[in-house]
Amino acid sequence: MATKLSNQLLEDILAQVRPLIGQGKVADYIPALAEVPADKLGIAVCTVDGETYQAGDADERFSIQSISKVLSLTVALSRYAESDIWARVGKEPSGQPFNSLLQLELEQGKPRNPFINAGALVVCDMLQSRLSAPKQRMLEVVRALSGEPDIVYDARVARSEFEHSDRNAAIAYLMKSFGNFENDVITVLQTYFHYCALRMSCMELARTFVYLANNGHSPALDEPLINERQNRQINAMMVTSGMYDGAGEFAYRVGMPGKSGVGGGIIAVVPHEMSIAVWCPELDASGNSLAGTAALEILAQRIGRSIF
Ligand code: DON
Repeated sequence: MATKLSNQLLEDILAQVRPLIGQGKVADYIPALAEVPADKLGIAVCTVDGETYQAGDADERFSIQSISKVLSLTVALSRYAESDIWARVGKEPSGQPFNSLLQLELEQGKPRNPFINAGALVVCDMLQSRLSAPKQRMLEVVRALSGEPDIVYDARVARSEFEHSDRNAAIAYLMKSFGNFENDVITVLQTYFHYCALRMSCMELARTFVYLANNGHSPALDEPLINERQNRQINAMMVTSGMYDGAGEFAYRVGMPGKSGVGGGIIAVVPHEMSIAVWCPELDASGNSLAGTAALEILAQRIGRSIF
């Protein structure tokens, strides 16, 4: 029997997964991220009707990291013809770690999908070409979607990432060598690192991403952000690529489109119903929140939801 959503249900789920803390590893390749306490645990849900539920550290902000890749793709879809985007980045799962260079050389500098680092860097390059102030624009977007005008970039995290950017720089320069990069690499890396360094809470993320459960239309905006078809396309790509080489496992266990970040956040979508955000900093081997995935798995079972 499916259980109704409630704050108590979310509390129960967090109590169930809390013992998993200690089994994963907080990301330390970005030194500023390694400082976050490993025992943070939060969850928030926002329904398309505007109801919200939360438990644990759902109001505490953290570094959203690769969750921002969904937002940059969304903004790109509103600024470019779809064919222009897909000429430069693919739609296939990579089956490789998020920062791998392996396929990129073999596939002539065209990244497999927009959610691995290479793909997100191409999308940022496209935004850099078309927006006069891409960092400011993204802030406007998340502030409007979340309804929180004080969301900012964490300058320390962005700087820390820039100081340890060898791998992302290598990815970008490799793409440039194949002619799949238009702008100055350092400038685009800075934009990308800032997007990753957005600080948002589970509740702010749940509110922000409810458009993906609502035909591309955020209740916070008058106009749809993307159309219904684009919404379905993003959700499909989240299923196949949102969790990198852990996408199959996530689809099997959770059964929802999802996107993770190495800050330990994950957003998930129940189409036409709700968006869910979880946060627990320790990651599994694929770079996805270990307890966060477990919380989503239990939630999916308890409320009886799966897209499959
Ligand atoms: O570029 C990086 O490596 C990070 N800023 C983002 C990686 C990330 O979040 C991967 N997701 N799990």
